[in-house]
Amino acid sequence: VELNTEIPQSFKSRTPPYGKLISKLHQVKEILNNQPLTLAEKILYSHLIDPSESLKHGDVSKIRGLEYLKLNPDRVAMQDASAQMALLQFMTCGLKSTAVPASIHCDHLIVGKDGEKKDLKSSIATNKEVFDFLQSCGEKYGIQFWGPGSGIIHQIVLENFSAPGLMMLGTDSHTPNAGGLGAIAIGVGGADAVDALTGTPWELKAPKILGVHLTGELNGWTSPKDIITYLAGELSVRGGTGFIVEYFGEGVKSLSCTGMATICNMGAEIGATTSTFPYQEAHKRYLISTNRSSIAQAADEVNSKYNFLKADVNASYDKVVEIDLSKLEPHVNGPFTPDLSTPISKFGTAQLENQWPENVSAGLIGSCTNSSYQDMSRSISIIKQAEAVGLKPKIPFFVTPGSEQIRATIERDGLIDTFQSNGAIVLANACGPCIGQWDRTDISKTSNETNAIFTSFNRNFRARNDGNRNTMNFLTSPDIVTAMIYSGDMKFNPLKDSIKLPNGEDFKFQPPKGDELPGNGFVPGRGEFYPVQDPIADESVEVNVSPESTRLQLLEPFKPWNGQELKSNVLLKVEGKCTTDHISAAGVWLKYKGHLENISYNTLIGAQNKETGEVNKAYDLNGDGYTIPELMIKWKEDGRPWNVVAEHNYGEGSAREHAALSPRFLGGKLILVKSFARIHETNLKKQGVLPLTFKNEADYDRLSSGDLLETTNLIDMVEKNGDNGGIINVKVTKKSGESFIIETTHTMSKDQVDFFKAGSAINHIGNLRRA
Ligand code: F3S
Repeated sequence: VELNTEIPQSFKSRTPPYGKLISKLHQVKEILNNQPLTLAEKILYSHLIDPSESLKHGDVSKIRGLEYLKLNPDRVAMQDASAQMALLQFMTCGLKSTAVPASIHCDHLIVGKDGEKKDLKSSIATNKEVFDFLQSCGEKYGIQFWGPGSGIIHQIVLENFSAPGLMMLGTDSHTPNAGGLGAIAIGVGGADAVDALTGTPWELKAPKILGVHLTGELNGWTSPKDIITYLAGELSVRGGTGFIVEYFGEGVKSLSCTGMATICNMGAEIGATTSTFPYQEAHKRYLISTNRSSIAQAADEVNSKYNFLKADVNASYDKVVEIDLSKLEPHVNGPFTPDLSTPISKFGTAQLENQWPENVSAGLIGSCTNSSYQDMSRSISIIKQAEAVGLKPKIPFFVTPGSEQIRATIERDGLIDTFQSNGAIVLANACGPCIGQWDRTDISKTSNETNAIFTSFNRNFRARNDGNRNTMNFLTSPDIVTAMIYSGDMKFNPLKDSIKLPNGEDFKFQPPKGDELPGNGFVPGRGEFYPVQDPIADESVEVNVSPESTRLQLLEPFKPWNGQELKSNVLLKVEGKCTTDHISAAGVWLKYKGHLENISYNTLIGAQNKETGEVNKAYDLNGDGYTIPELMIKWKEDGRPWNVVAEHNYGEGSAREHAALSPRFLGGKLILVKSFARIHETNLKKQGVLPLTFKNEADYDRLSSGDLLETTNLIDMVEKNGDNGGIINVKVTKKSGESFIIETTHTMSKDQVDFFKAGSAINHIGNLRRA
């Protein structure tokens, strides 16, 4: 399909391939007999490699939640912490450049403490080796490199790369932020990113579609953040699992593009695959104000001619949630889980009932979730009201701009001055306190006393912000956070309560007002933070990884399958919950993300031994006790393959690929459980570990550490190319010599069998590329 809109050369890599997508959509419609489609389906299915294969059942109800889609994403974005392993894996494939445009963003490794200048300098010094590695990868493979200080991945993607109808992957769980501009943007691990970077089909089980019908209009103190904090309360942290959340209805019209991004960003908090919005005037305004009017024109054209960027009339949703924005009130979510949602009118009572601290200890706004011009200007409107009556903040207040463009624009418009003259500390354009890089000086990390902070961030797990397990993070809008810093009282409700002024008068805030977009347009800010547009891969660039480095390590390909049945001993029988945090702890281990050997010393250190009740303890065949990683290393050195036996939902939590990479690196061959978290099961397959599930759960009780497990029909399964599932028989031999057979099930597809045979998905891709 040819479009009339001319896209200038410099915008080609940033514009979704609309002509190609519309042609595919025609093909999809034909296969599906013109069934009405949701917006999410239109975008996903127009990115299918072969619609006739993925949609062969010809009926959306037989595809959603059932079929695997093989997709060709348009773009990839990677943040500094996860980009290291993604690029180390990409390097092993031997390609000269990436198959799709990609970008690297240095944001997670930057501390928030003393303000932008000092923090940036010290973080660059601490992480120089990693930043240099990422930059040289960018130059070698033609990936755009956004260095430290340029901004947070999701804000930069929204300002530069997201577009209506785009499909992208990002190595960060809040990648769905880009859905605020009508894209389908999915957070993945490094190995999945490598699929897209190498042009290998990326596989996704067709999500179900959860419709959120917005009616009414936002007003007063209520902001877009309250839509998602309310929804999290309604649906819980697992309510969106397996779904794409698609918003629709009249109420969407009262939202700004950046407000929609906030909502999509926090769709990750309900476990959704991603979230998206239909094309709006607000999208057009945002595209134009961020200098992308040609993309706005093209989006207009594909929408008006082909109805591409909104759902068809009568499209069906698997579930619909109704929200009347006119009746919605601000919400405060937390502590410790983003789905514990309390309307502001009931928060005072909740504080008393739950015995949460009486005072707020700090307020933080910004991050990738809420750092738009609109957010900042609404916060300033509250600060100015306080300033006018001589009210001073009672608690520390921190502001994190999402990008250099935002920072420079709010500086030009005097907002930074107003923040600072009213006591706020403006931090670097980076993740800082949102990802535990808050070097807080007022309360120690080990303090046993609980304290409460109010933030406009998206996650509030224990110890996430300041490393202190007793810090309760309450998530809410920047408006409520800002009002809170002037009261400091947890029971304060700015919608109805007053604050006593020094002269004894009562002062009450008026609802905040802000500008959707800067009246004088955005300014880009300091040029040194901007990368080369459309970089060209330069083979001559050396990517240096020192063999002495403790932060980075080149990857050695895992060995291919030897063609034999698997024979391995049970190294550990895990009891109860075993999340990716138990399997591959974060915190201090984050700095080793690019060094597989060093990070692997954390493998399963959080797991509980079923037989002894101990955490991080495993026993050798002769009874000698070790930490779990120590025994893994010992058995690897002894040439003894091992397996782990565990219970339900093994590997729940994030998409952390180290939870699969590290066991594989230390000699793990097989994980046998009562059930898997889907993403972790896929990650294991991608790293060449065989995931099996007990057919009869009671067999878990028959196994002990040290037992020898031998598959008896693995070769047969491989010869059948997996067949998308079936039985694998496992012969169990106890130390006493007694033996018996148990049945287990697998879910291997043909592609996954290829990964297994090659030793890993990356090996398989490398083999294909070299062939
Ligand atoms: Fe960074 Fe926090 Fe967002 S870690 S990407 S600001 S969720």
